Amino acid sequence: MHGAIVWAVLGLFSGGAGAESSCVACHESAGAVPYLEHNFEDWKRSPHAKAGESCEACHGGDASKLDKSAAHAGMLPSTDPKSRVYFTKVPGTCGACHAAEENAFKKSRHAAELARTGKGPNCVTCHGSMANHVLAPRELEMTCTLCHRKPTRAYVTLLSLNTAEQALRRLETGVERASRVGVDVKAQETALSHAKSLYYSAGVEWHTFKMDAVLKASQEAARQANTAASELELKESQHGGKPKP
Ligand code: HEC
Ligand code: HEC
Ligand code: HEC
Ligand code: HEC
Ligand code: HEC
Repeated sequence: MHGAIVWAVLGLFSGGAGAESSCVACHESAGAVPYLEHNFEDWKRSPHAKAGESCEACHGGDASKLDKSAAHAGMLPSTDPKSRVYFTKVPGTCGACHAAEENAFKKSRHAAELARTGKGPNCVTCHGSMANHVLAPRELEMTCTLCHRKPTRAYVTLLSLNTAEQALRRLETGVERASRVGVDVKAQETALSHAKSLYYSAGVEWHTFKMDAVLKASQEAARQANTAASELELKESQHGGKPKP
C-alpha cells in the first residue's frame, strides 16, 4: 500500500480526526480490503467523515496502530452481543455523542421493544449504519412501513420539520440582508433564536415518536419564523430603497 499517497488524499476530503485514523488509512485502500469498499464509501460520504469522526468512534479498536491486528484489538463483529455495534447496543454507542436524541429515544415504545423483543428500530434502521444521513420524507415513510402496516404520519411530520427549516433559512437570510442596509433587526434576531430552539427541540422530540407534539412544535416554529420574516420585509421596504439582492 502507498501509505504516503493515502494520507495525502485523506487530507483533501477530511482534514479532521479521520485523517489521523489508521482505520481510515488502511480501509481507504480498496486494494487492501476489496469487499469492504462499499462500507468505506458510505462512511466517506457521511456527515461523520466530514466532522472527522472515524471508524473507531463506533467500532472501537485502536486507531493509532498501523498494524491490522493491533488496530482491531478489542473490536468485535456486529453479530457479537458484546460488540458496540450489536443492534441493541447501537443507541448507547451513538448516544455517546448524540445524547439528546438517545435520551428522547429511550422514552419511546421503540426503545422498549428493542430491549424487550429486539423488534423495535434502532438508530441505524433509520439513519443507515454509516451513511448516517437524515432521511427524506419518502425514504422515511418506506422505513416505517417496513414494520408498520398503518400509516405512521411520519411523512407529514417530517415535511413539516423541513418546512420549518426553510422558514428559518428565510428569516436568517432576511436578518443578514436587512442588517447590511442598516435596518434594526433586534426583534427579528430574538424571534430567530426562539424559532430555532423550537425547531431543534422538535427534531430531538421526534425520537420519542409522539408525532402530534412534533408536528405542533414544528408548525409553531415555521409560523414564528415566517411572521418575523414578513415583518422584516415590511420594515425593509419602509426603510427606503430596495433591499440588496
Ligand atoms: C492495516 C490495515 C487495517 C487497519 C489499520 C484496520 N483494518 Fe479493519 N480490516 C482490515 C482488513 C484487511 C479486514 C478484512 C478482514 C480481515 O482480514 O481481518 C478488516 C476488517 C474490519 C472489519 C470487519 C470485521 C469483520 O468481522 O468482518 C471492521 C469492522 C474493521 N476492520 C474496522 C476497523 C477499525 C475500527 C479500525 C481502526 C481502529 C481498523 N479496522 C483498522 C484492515 C485494517
Ligand atoms: C457512526 C457509526 C459508525 C461509523 C463511523 C463506522 N461504522 Fe462500520 N458499522 C456501524 C454499525 C452500527 C455496523 C453494524 C451493521 C449495521 O447495523 O449496518 C457497522 C458495520 C460495519 C462492517 C460490517 C462488519 C460488521 O461487524 O457488521 C464493517 C466492515 C464496517 N462497519 C467497517 C467500518 C469502517 C472501515 C469504518 C470507517 C471507514 C466504519 N465502519 C465506520 C457503525 C459505524
Ligand atoms: C464520536 C462521536 C459520534 C458518534 C459515536 C456518532 N456520531 Fe453522529 N455525528 C457526530 C458529529 C460530530 C456529527 C456532525 C455534526 C452534527 O451534525 O452534529 C454527526 C452527525 C450525525 C448525523 C447528521 C446530523 C444532521 O443534522 O445532519 C446523524 C443523523 C448522526 N450523526 C447519527 C449517528 C448515529 C446513528 C450514530 C451511531 C450509529 C452516530 N451518529 C454516532 C458525532 C458522532
Ligand atoms: C424510526 C426512525 C428513527 C430512529 C429509530 C432514530 N432516528 Fe434520528 N432522526 C430521524 C428523523 C426522521 C430525523 C430528522 C428530524 C428532523 O428533520 O429534524 C432524525 C434526526 C436525527 C439527528 C439530527 C439532529 C436532530 O435531532 O434533528 C440525529 C443526530 C439523530 N437523528 C440521531 C439519532 C440517534 C442517535 C438515534 C438512536 C438513539 C436515532 N436518531 C434514532 C429518524 C430516526
Ligand atoms: C424495526 C421495526 C420498526 C420500524 C422500522 C418502525 N417501528 Fe414504530 N414500532 C415498532 C414496534 C415493534 C412498536 C410497538 C408495537 C406497536 O405499537 O405496533 C412500534 C410502535 C410505534 C409507535 C407507537 C408508540 C407509542 O408510544 O405507543 C409509533 C408512533 C411508531 N412506532 C412510529 C414509527 C415511525 C414514525 C416509524 C418510522 C420513522 C417507525 N415507527 C418505524 C417497530 C418499528
